[in-house]
Parts: sequence; structure tokens; C-alpha cells
Amino acid sequence: PEVVAIVPAAGVGKRMRADLPKQYLTIEDKTLLEHTVHYLLEHPSINKVVIAIGEEDGYFHSTSLGSDKRIVVTTGGKERADSVLAGLRVTNAEWVMVHDAARPCVRHEDIDVLIAEAISHTHGAILACPVRDTMKRGTGDNKIETTVCREQLWHALTPQMFKREQLLNALETALDKSLAVTDEASAIELAGGAPKLVSGHADNIKVTQPEDLALAAFFLAQRNS
Ligand code: C5P
Repeated sequence: PEVVAIVPAAGVGKRMRADLPKQYLTIEDKTLLEHTVHYLLEHPSINKVVIAIGEEDGYFHSTSLGSDKRIVVTTGGKERADSVLAGLRVTNAEWVMVHDAARPCVRHEDIDVLIAEAISHTHGAILACPVRDTMKRGTGDNKIETTVCREQLWHALTPQMFKREQLLNALETALDKSLAVTDEASAIELAGGAPKLVSGHADNIKVTQPEDLALAAFFLAQRNS
């Protein structure tokens, strides 16, 4: 099917300790946002990308993205979920795929599997990868309370793909009730749905800390070679 990609890019990236939001950091003269959006648009099922940028964004205008007819820009909100909602409201596509601006290293082969799984399940699907480390739950003063069985634990990645209307309703309800949603699947879960976990490559990292940038550059070069 045709899928519209929604790219929330309205974060301020506090954890990066950089002068500019992380989606505008560059690898090989291109911002992370440009890497991400260009690669999404190269996928045969994605012909349109909606980007949600911050209200006070002072960087988007100097990227190459503004003049691309396949790109729609809207204003994001306070939380990531607000930005995604803003994006959902400017498209009427049947299927949407939400993908972090800060995850430039995603691969088309993973997107292919995600699409196939999302359209064959009732509650959509997300890319994820199984947890590798031993997992501990800590107490307030950082003592180990317990070891959590990692057998069924996954890292939630993006893209996450759903029917637009289903995601829109789920996010609106979650935000109305002030429930915490840090990804799209959690809104669907709160509405009683069970999105499918699709095993993706672990190099689809979210650039969050300064040291992630070199890693992302390495993974990008590998993917594109
Ligand atoms: O902060 P975090 O790493 O969870 O951000 C994930 C993605 O969500 C980033 O691409 C960021 O720009 C975006 N975001 C947003 N609006 C917010 C907060 C984050 O679009 N209010």
C-alpha cells in the first residue's frame, strides 16, 4: 500500500548537550533529518513525508527539504505525541508510518517487513529488537531490586506503522487522559490493542547522546556502501 511517513522533529534534544537540536546535527554535510527523510522517500511505498518541526525552529529553512513537493511541514507540540498528532492531522492517508528524525540508519529491508506485518495485523506493527543485556529493576537509591527476565523484553524502535485513524483516535484518547505515551504503540496498547513486534536491525539507533553521532555515521556508511 501507499504509506505516508510522519517524522516528528520538534524535539529540542537536551541530552545531546549541543547548540542545536539533534535532528540538525550533520553527518557528511547533511543533517540527520535530511538523511532520514531522503532515505524514507527512496522507499517504493513512501511517496509523502510529513515533518513536524518545533514552533521556534530556526534551522529547517536552511535544509534542502522545504522545496521538495513530496514533503509537508507542520508545527509539532510540547511532547512527541503532540508532534505526531499534528502530523496525522495534515494527511488523510489510510496507512501511516511514524519514524524518528533522529534514526537515520533504518534500512529498507526492515521497512519492507514492517509494512507486510502491519497490513496483516489488526493493531499495526513496530520495529523492535530483543534485549541483549541482563535487565535489572533498581530501587530509588539504585540498589538492585530484582533481575527482570529478558526473554520477552524488546527495545521499541521506529518506524511504527498503523492505520491513520486508529492511531489518531488512540493518541487523542491517551492525551485527553494525560497518559504517558513515549511511542505510538503505547497509545494503541492503552486502547486495548496489541501491535506486532517486528524484529529489526539493532543499528537503527536513535541519536540521543553526543557519542551516538559517530556510531550513526559508521552505520550509515555501511548501509549505503
Ligand atoms: O526526545 P526523543 O529522543 O524521544 O525524540 C524522539 C523524536 O521525537 C525526535 O525525532 C524528536 O525530534 C521528536 N520530538 C518531537 N516533538 C517533541 C519531542 C520530540 O517531534 N515535543
